[in-house]
Amino acid sequence: MGKVAIVTGGTRGIGRAISEMLQEDGFTVVANYAGNDDKAKAFTDATGIKSYKWDVGDHAACQEGCERVASEVGPVDVVVNNAGITRDGTLLKMTYDDWDEVMRINLGGCFNMAKAAFAGMKDRGWGRFVNIGSINGQAGQYGQVNYAAAKSGIHGFTKALAQEGARFGITVNAIAPGYIDTDMVAAVPEPVLEKIVAKIPVGRLGQAKEIARGVSFLCSDSAAFVTGSTMSINGGQHMY
Ligand code: CAA
Repeated sequence: MGKVAIVTGGTRGIGRAISEMLQEDGFTVVANYAGNDDKAKAFTDATGIKSYKWDVGDHAACQEGCERVASEVGPVDVVVNNAGITRDGTLLKMTYDDWDEVMRINLGGCFNMAKAAFAGMKDRGWGRFVNIGSINGQAGQYGQVNYAAAKSGIHGFTKALAQEGARFGITVNAIAPGYIDTDMVAAVPEPVLEKIVAKIPVGRLGQAKEIARGVSFLCSDSAAFVTGSTMSINGGQHMY
């Protein structure tokens, strides 16, 4: 059996592409999801990848979820913190709930999953965290003070945890995707999205697989000397 990798939000969009690519790489992949049971079941039927439901924003649920995975599948060697939501709106229209939910899930989820998995990786002397940040956490984005703050937080979180993990064989890296062809980006109003795509030098949206390839590299043994880094995969939209 290969090393065990959990991909949060791993049944759809970028997460699905990551789950499938890590499976191709030989990992035993578990896809976490929070919402849609039917889509998760369809994903598991199509790929053979087990899906486990819990809310990454809930600290106790992450502990229980990782314990269940450890006992039913095996100890967790890789965590890809991919789960994320948007609650876009300009500051004056954004509610406190919009702020809290995005911080709780997008940033809190990384903390909760690290708390659940780090000690085991440390004991075994090997581990990988890959945290999915965003171009909008690097550059900001009109209408996303919550999302940009959470994603920017992920980049800081990554660098801090990388320093703690290095001596235990645990690497911690981030990927900052640009605009990728997923349901999340499809929800951006058409005229707004057109203007965004016009600013991407490569001239198109990215594909989920193009993010998954980066994750695949960062999870490999070849990336043992890469830690605390952010890989920007954005078609040249923000060169950072
Ligand atoms: N810069 C400056 N001004 C802008 C602007 C921008 N980027 N975008 C909009 N404005 C202006 C508009 O021109 C408008 O000005 P006027 O009132 O003078 O006409 C004003 O701001 C209000 O704009 P909207 O009508 O768009 O306001 P709204 O409240 O209806 O919608 C919004 C605001 C929800 C933020 C909408 O603009 C939007 O959805 N923007 C896209 C946000 C975005 O890119 N989200 C990314 C989602 S995908 C993702 O997050 C994945 C990832 O990691 C990349």
